[in-house]
Amino acid sequence: MKHYLSIKDIDALPQWVEEAISLKRDPYGQQALGRHKTLCLLFFNNSLRTRLSTQKAAMNLGMEVMVMNFGNEGWALEYGDGTTMDQGTSEHIKEAAQVVSQYCDIVAIRAFSGLVDKARDEAEEVLRGFVRYASIPVVNMESSTGHPLQALADAITLAEHRTVPRPKVVLSWAPHPKALPHAVPNSFVEMMKLQDAEFVITHPQGYALDPRITQGCRIEYDQAKALEGADFVYVKNWSSYTAYGEVLSQDPQWTMTLEKLGKAKFMHCLPVRRNVVVEDAVLDGDSSLVAQQANNRIYAAQLVLKKILENR
Ligand code: CP
Repeated sequence: MKHYLSIKDIDALPQWVEEAISLKRDPYGQQALGRHKTLCLLFFNNSLRTRLSTQKAAMNLGMEVMVMNFGNEGWALEYGDGTTMDQGTSEHIKEAAQVVSQYCDIVAIRAFSGLVDKARDEAEEVLRGFVRYASIPVVNMESSTGHPLQALADAITLAEHRTVPRPKVVLSWAPHPKALPHAVPNSFVEMMKLQDAEFVITHPQGYALDPRITQGCRIEYDQAKALEGADFVYVKNWSSYTAYGEVLSQDPQWTMTLEKLGKAKFMHCLPVRRNVVVEDAVLDGDSSLVAQQANNRIYAAQLVLKKILENR
C-alpha cells in the first residue's frame, strides 16, 4: 500500500482487523521497522484523538514524529494551477509538498470540508494536492469526505465486542447546533459495506448522505423502527448533504437515550456533545464503547503505518 486515503485502500478488512488486534497485543514488537523513519502530521483543523493516537502509533513502531498545526502556523496555501498569487495565499502546494517530502518519510494530513462549496470539498484539494505533489506516502487523518482511520478503529471495536456472528449495526443521525462534515459517517458506511452485518442508516428527511456512498444500504426514517434489535448503535451528527452544509433540524427526539439504546452497545467517534447528541446516562453507562474506540485509533494508525513502511 502506497497511501491510505480512504476505506477503498483496505484490501481485506477481516485480515486488517485481525492484524490490528495482534498489534494491540504486542504493540512494540515492530520497533525496528520505524527506526530512522519520520512521520509528519499536518493539521489544518483541530484534533485530540487523531493527533495523539497517530503519534503514539508511530512511536510504537519506533518512528520519529513531527507535528505542525498548519491551519494556524503554516503559510496560506494556493492550490490552483497557473494562479497569479497576488491575493491571500503565500505558498503553492507544489513547493510545500515537495519540501515536506524531504523532511519525512510519511505525511499524514487533516483537512476538513468547508461545507460551503460541495464541488470544492469533494475535490479534496489539500489531501489530493499532497498526493499529487509529494514524493512520499500520504495518510488521511480526516479529509472533506472521509475519516478512514476512524472507521478502521470502529471495525476493530466491532470485532472485539460482537457477540453474534452477524450483528445488527445502526448508524443513527443525532442533533447538533453546528454544521458538521460527512467524513465520519461516509467512512463508517463504506466500512460497514465490507462487513458481514445487518446495517441500517436512520436519519430525518433531508439528511441523506451521498447516494454514491449509501447505495445498497437500508435507510429508515423511523428511528425507533431502525433501532429494533440493534447490537450496536453508532450515533453521529452530520449536516445536510443535499442542502449542502445546512442544519435543517435540531430535533431533540433524535438524541440517543438509554431507553432507546436498549441492549445495544453505543458507539461515537468523539468529541461528543453531552445531552444534545446523547444523554449522560449512555456515555456514563456500561454500554458505551467510546473509550475503546478511541483506544483502537492507536492500532488502526499503527497498522496503516506498518503496511506503508513494509511497502517502502
Ligand atoms: N474522532 C476523532 O477524529 O477525534 P479528533 O477530532 O479529536 O481527532
